[in-house]
Amino acid sequence: MTIIQEKTLSALTRPDFPILNQTIHDKPLVYLDNAATSQKPIAVLDAIEHYYRYDNANVHRGVHTLSSRATDAYEGARDKVAAFVNAASRQEIVYTRNASEAINLVAYSWALNTLKQGDEIVLSVMEHHSNLVPWQIIAGRTGAVLKHVELTETEEFDFEQFKSLLSDKTKLVSVVHVSNTLGCINPVKEICAEAHKVGARVLIDACQSVPHMPIDVQEIDCDWLVASGHKMCAPTGIGFLYGKLDLLRSQPPFMGGGEMIADVFLDHSTYADLPHKFEAGTPAIGEAIALGAAVDYLTNIGMDRIHAYEEELTDYLFRQLATIPELRLYGPKPNADGSGRAALASFTAGDVHPHDLSTILDQAGVAIRAGHHCTQPLHRYLKAQSTARASLYFYNTREEIDVFIVALKDAVEFFGSIFG
Ligand code: ALA
Repeated sequence: MTIIQEKTLSALTRPDFPILNQTIHDKPLVYLDNAATSQKPIAVLDAIEHYYRYDNANVHRGVHTLSSRATDAYEGARDKVAAFVNAASRQEIVYTRNASEAINLVAYSWALNTLKQGDEIVLSVMEHHSNLVPWQIIAGRTGAVLKHVELTETEEFDFEQFKSLLSDKTKLVSVVHVSNTLGCINPVKEICAEAHKVGARVLIDACQSVPHMPIDVQEIDCDWLVASGHKMCAPTGIGFLYGKLDLLRSQPPFMGGGEMIADVFLDHSTYADLPHKFEAGTPAIGEAIALGAAVDYLTNIGMDRIHAYEEELTDYLFRQLATIPELRLYGPKPNADGSGRAALASFTAGDVHPHDLSTILDQAGVAIRAGHHCTQPLHRYLKAQSTARASLYFYNTREEIDVFIVALKDAVEFFGSIFG
C-alpha cells in the first residue's frame, strides 16, 4: 500500500470519530490504546441512538411493529457478523456479553460436560486471563490437566513445542490468534490442523484479530472462535461466539431463562433451536444492532485495506521506536514491509515504571496502556513486572506516531536524568 492510500484511509475515516477531535491537557488527543478498546464511528453511535429513539422494544416476543423492527435489526446484525467471519450458517453465531462470556459458555457448556480426569487442555503462556482462568476452573472441577505452549527466542508461539504437547490425551486447544501483549500472529490454521489430527477441539481467541484483518472461520477450521464488539468499533456489552453447527447443537445450554426455551413445564423444559438456546434472557439488543453497524462500517472500508494500512503503520512505528535505544520491545520484529505482527508495541524503558511513562505521555495528550494487560503469567514468563503498550487502529496516522515518539523520548530522557 502506498502513502497516498494511507492518507486516503485516515483522511476518509478520521471525521467519523468525533471523540478523536479533542484536546487532552491542551494537546490534541493521540489515542493509542486500541487494543484495550476501539473508538466508535458516528454510524455506530447513530445506530444505537436510532434503536432507542425509534425502535426500542423486546425481541422475539411481541407481534407489534416496534418488536418486529427490533427483532429484524437484532437478527439482521447476526447475519452481518456471520458473513463477516464467513460462518457457514447464521445459527453458528451466538451473541454474548463479551469474549470472556463466550469462552465461559464453551467452558461450562462443553468442557465441564466432556472432559474427564487426565484429559489435557493445551493453552499458551501468552493467553489473556480470560483464556486461562475458565480453564483453570474447569480443570479443577474435572481433573483435566493444563499444558502451556511457551515462546520461541523471537517471543512467538512455539509451534514445534506445541506439536510435542499434543497426544490422544489432548481434548482441547484454546489459544489466542493475535497476542494483545506480544503482537505476534499465531498460525491458527496450522494449530487447528495439528490439534484435529489427535481429535482435539480448538477454540481461537480472536479479540485482537477480528477487528484488524479478514477472518474466515471455515478456512481456519476452528471449532469455536470468540471476539468482543468493543474492540471492533461496536459498544461494550456485546461480543460473539462462533461455533460449528453440529458442535453447538450437541452442547447443552449454558444459562437457563426466557428466550432460550421451546416449551416450559413445571418440572422440565425443551430448548429453543440455535442460536437462541444460548441466549437466555433479554439480550443486549441495541448493542447487537450497533455491532451490526460496526461490521457494516468495517466491511465498507475493507478488512484487507485496514490490514494493509496497519502493516504500514507497524513498519513506521517500529522504525521510530528503534531510535530510542533505552527501550526493550517485546514480541517479534515486523518483517521489512511491516507485516508479520500486529500494529501494537509493548515495551519497557530500564527501571522506569510503565505507569510513570503512561502518566507523562498523557500530559502530552497521548493515551497508551501500562500494566500487565491481563496477561500476568506472560509478564512473569518475560520477567517483566509490567509493560507500556501503544496499540494502533486504522484511524491513527504517522503524525500521531511522531507525537508519541517525541513524548516518549522526552519521558525516557527525563527519567534517565533522575535514575542516572
Ligand atoms: N484485553 C484488553 C487489553 O489488552 C483489555 O487491553
